[in-house]
Amino acid sequence: MERILITGAGGQLGSELSNALAAKYGNEAIIATDINEKAGEKFDYCTFEILDVLDKERLESLVEQYKVTQVYHLAAILSAVGEKNPLFTWKLNMDSLLNVLELGRMKKINKIYWPSSIAVFGKNTPVDNTPQDCVMDPTTVYGISKLAGERWCAYYFEKYGVDVRSLRYPGLIGYKSAAGGGTTDYAVDIFRAAIDGEEFECFLDKDMYLPMMYMPDAIKATLDLMDAPKEDITIRSSYNVSAISFSPKDIYKVLLKYYPDFKIKYNPDFRQEIAASWPDSIDDTRARLDWDWQHDYDLEKMAKDILSHLAPNK
Ligand code: SER
Repeated sequence: MERILITGAGGQLGSELSNALAAKYGNEAIIATDINEKAGEKFDYCTFEILDVLDKERLESLVEQYKVTQVYHLAAILSAVGEKNPLFTWKLNMDSLLNVLELGRMKKINKIYWPSSIAVFGKNTPVDNTPQDCVMDPTTVYGISKLAGERWCAYYFEKYGVDVRSLRYPGLIGYKSAAGGGTTDYAVDIFRAAIDGEEFECFLDKDMYLPMMYMPDAIKATLDLMDAPKEDITIRSSYNVSAISFSPKDIYKVLLKYYPDFKIKYNPDFRQEIAASWPDSIDDTRARLDWDWQHDYDLEKMAKDILSHLAPNK
C-alpha cells in the first residue's frame, strides 16, 4: 500500500493536491504535514502532523512511523516573499529538498515529487515558447533555489537512482485556497475582487503576459507525471508544462463580461520586474510526448468554472 507524506500541505497547491491524492489512494494513505498548526483544520479526512521541513530528524521519524513510500515536497518560500529574506529562502528551499532527497538515497522512500517553476528562467531566456533547454539565469532567490534544486534532483537520480520527478509550474490559479507570496497571485486575487464588487489594484502592468495554469490541470499534470512508467521519464531535472498565457488586461476583459462594472487600476510594484524576467509562454513538447500531457482549461473555461463556484463574501 502506498503511504504518501505531503509537506506544505496547507498551502495553495498542497490543499488541493492532498485531496486529489486522498481520492486516488484513500484517506488512510495520506499524511498531510505543515509547519502551521492551523493548517490541520483542512485535514479532518486524513492524518495531519506538524512538520518544519528543516527538521531532518522529525521528517525521517514520520517517514518511519507511517511507513511512507512517497513524499510530495511542496513546502517552499515563493518568489515575491523570498526577495524579502533571500538567505532564509535559500536555506529553506534548498536544505529541505536535500533532506527529502537523502531519504530517497537511503531507500527510506520510493518516489519523490518536487515542484519547480517558471521562475528558473530569467532575462536572457527566450521569452516566447521558452524551450525545455535554454539559457536560464534566474534573478530571484526563489528562481535560483528552484534551478539549483532541479540540478540536485537530476544528480540524485543519476548518482543514486532516486526516483524524483518534477514540473516547472506556471502561475497556478485556484479558488479553494489563497495563494501565498508569489508574483502570479494577482490572477487568483482578481476573482475575489470582481465577485465582491471591489476595484482591483493590480501589481503588474496591464500587458504583462505570463504562463498560467488552472489548478485542476496542475493536479492532473502532477498525478500523470507521478503515474508514468519510470522509463518514460526522460527529464529528471524538471519538465516544462504549459496551459494558458494571458496578461492582466486579458483576464480583466473576461471578468468584465460577468461583472460589467468591475474596475481595475494598475499600480506595478517590485513584482513587475520579477514577472518581466519570466517567459510569456512555454514549450512543453517533452511533457506532451513523454507522458501525454494535455491541458483542459483555457482562460474562458477557467473563469467560467471559478465563477460558478465562488459566492460574494458578505
Ligand atoms: N507562482 C510562483 C510565484 O509567483 C511561480 O512559481 O512565485
